Amino acid sequence: MSRVDPQRQNRSGEDNQPWAGVRTVPSSHYTDPEHLRREEDEVFKRAWIVVAREEQIPRPGDYVVFDELGESLVAVRDESGRVRVLHNSCRHRGSRMLEGCGHADTLDCPYHGWSYGLDGSLKGVPRIGGFDALDTNRMGLHAVRSSTWLGFVWINLDPDAPPLLATLGSLPDELAPYRLEEMRPIAIKDEVVPANWKAMLENAMDFYHVPFVHGRTINKHVTRGPDLQSYGDHTRQRLPIAAYGWRASLDRRCTRGGPYTPLQVSALHKYLVFPNFLINVLPFHLTVMQVFPIDTHSCRLRYAFCKRQGARGIELARVYGTWAASRYILWEDLTVLDRFQRGVDTQRVSTQTLHDEEAAASHFHGVLRRWMESPPTP
Ligand code: FES
Ligand SMILES: [Fe+2]
Repeated sequence: MSRVDPQRQNRSGEDNQPWAGVRTVPSSHYTDPEHLRREEDEVFKRAWIVVAREEQIPRPGDYVVFDELGESLVAVRDESGRVRVLHNSCRHRGSRMLEGCGHADTLDCPYHGWSYGLDGSLKGVPRIGGFDALDTNRMGLHAVRSSTWLGFVWINLDPDAPPLLATLGSLPDELAPYRLEEMRPIAIKDEVVPANWKAMLENAMDFYHVPFVHGRTINKHVTRGPDLQSYGDHTRQRLPIAAYGWRASLDRRCTRGGPYTPLQVSALHKYLVFPNFLINVLPFHLTVMQVFPIDTHSCRLRYAFCKRQGARGIELARVYGTWAASRYILWEDLTVLDRFQRGVDTQRVSTQTLHDEEAAASHFHGVLRRWMESPPTP
């Protein structure tokens, strides 16, 4: 079995944003319901979270419902073409209004027929005279802060959080050449993973397990671990894949977008936008993984594999080939995640110790600890 070179990962951070890594993690953080509740309150309800892809709602009136984190939200494109995100709870008595996705001229509550505009304002109330002095101007659907970036719709449930772009450092500039807003899913799958949400994310960033879990797949193509760069709370791992010689001409025929640096074409770039948005990026395809907690020992993995709009011929064949490989590799990971969680559940190992090749997970835990202990700095 060939092994990943155990050289230390190159860990660097942007000048004013220090490396946050920790070397140990309490196992109780994967099993304690109170800890999970605090993660939801202190992290998920204060961080920027992706709720939809913009192309899911291309026309005014298109909407898609997001049901995670104990919330129900509606992302809708209003008449001006702007994406708005609204709470999916009617202002009459709080009923859930919309399901799934669709198109509507007005957002209507199925219970007593209150009706809202695409901007959330209250438009219609049946037999309004039956209410005492209803101030319809103040009874619109509650709005959620939202933003768009990379073709995704992001929300933040904290009205005091800094704007999305202010939290990203130089990531937008670095990712701009890929034009990820041109990417379109060829496969989307939600699955329940029998492990804590952090275990799923860490696994997707960890290279220490590669020779053992992926001995017959990734390990054959990876000769050294990735370098690691932090951008405040977020990270990038850059992983050279395969001997590059034979791939160069293939890459030239598949590469659209740009201008790219040579490494952006030849190496897989893996970004974690804290806390739960992980993408694997090459100019030819994009993998998106989002992880949402369900309870301490299970989470929902929202997985999408994307091609660039208009991909044809060899570029398209490559996308489907990589997608099939990616599904198999994910299956390899899922087999160990169940074992990990069942082992941790026994609490016989109270402290977990991280290796250099788990440096991205180390940084993630350092950031998580900071968010849990104090408000994030703008
Ligand atoms: S709860 Fe929506 S109209 Fe009554
Ligand atoms: Fe893996």
